[in-house]
Amino acid sequence: MDLAPRSRRPLRIASPVIIASGTFGYDGFGRGITPEMDLGRLGAVVPKTVTRQPREGNPEPRWHPRSYRRALEAGEFVFLNSVGLANPGIDAALSEMAPQWAELATNVVLSLAADSVDQCAEMTAMTQGVAGFQALELNLSCPNVEDGAVFSHTAELAAAAVGAVRANTDLPVLAKLAPNVPDLTEIARAAVGAGADALTISNTIPAMMIDVETRKPVLGTATGGLSGHGLRPVSVALVYRVAQAVDVPIIGVGGIFEAKHALEYILAGATAVQVGSANLADLWAPFRILNGLRVYLEEAGIRNMGELIGAVQVETAG
Ligand SMILES: Cc1cc2nc3c(=O)[nH]c(=O)nc-3n(C[C@H](O)[C@H](O)[C@H](O)COP(=O)(O)O)c2cc1C
Repeated sequence: MDLAPRSRRPLRIASPVIIASGTFGYDGFGRGITPEMDLGRLGAVVPKTVTRQPREGNPEPRWHPRSYRRALEAGEFVFLNSVGLANPGIDAALSEMAPQWAELATNVVLSLAADSVDQCAEMTAMTQGVAGFQALELNLSCPNVEDGAVFSHTAELAAAAVGAVRANTDLPVLAKLAPNVPDLTEIARAAVGAGADALTISNTIPAMMIDVETRKPVLGTATGGLSGHGLRPVSVALVYRVAQAVDVPIIGVGGIFEAKHALEYILAGATAVQVGSANLADLWAPFRILNGLRVYLEEAGIRNMGELIGAVQVETAG
């Protein structure tokens, strides 16, 4: 399957299951991976977003609950984080991490976030000629320091950022869009018009929880981002709407813990999915989801998963 059919360089994926940015750690990208985990079965991994300069991230606490695994075991499904873009910076990523990524048996998608349109261009130009990744994912859920607006909150800014990346690379470009806008189709069209080969939908949604005993927010930054189960219906709806508006592959992300969750996204119109919070509870999650998809297809007698893309049956009134 090619996730970037419009691109000069294909992004061939072995399966539709991809590991979402920020959820396999950063240098911790390989932490916890055992030799039994055959990464070659996955479509790709997207390491933590890199920025132009190193960033330390936000004050603690940055997670709620502290252990996603224990929360899941206890039947708790609301996950908040304010990790921020803690990362070693693009210089270190390209010189120290990329050679390690080159050894992996799967595609690596380098996730970039910039402070300005010019910096999108600069960072992308820095990636030219560096081996170790097969595509770029532009994280548009961060502010443009010039006016404080989040890149993917307006069609103009999203297009400018994607265009700056597109102009500086031959690699497939994935645009990762933020969920909290009135009409994501407009922004999706702008990103595709500016040269995005695929869209990743979506990212965490702004959220807050307060401990009523202490009267303090559960996160050190007061507000953070909601991921996991609560995000899934929001993000599935966005995939469904956007799939009707653009003709590039969509990668669905948000709250995928089981194969049936991945299938929801595929039926809504996604070609592939990314698994995020589930990794934080269990690094085997992407493999379990992949196995579950295989079993589902076999039992349903479906030989080509492509038949299911966008196959949701919506009854229209009248
Ligand atoms: C702890 C944590 C860190 C994240 N860091 C990033 C990041 O650096 N870049 C990015 O594009 N998304 C980041 N995300 C968002 C995920 O990639 C994903 O879009 C989101 O969590 C929804 O998927 P999920 O419900 O499967 O977690 C992060 C999410 C979590 C939970």
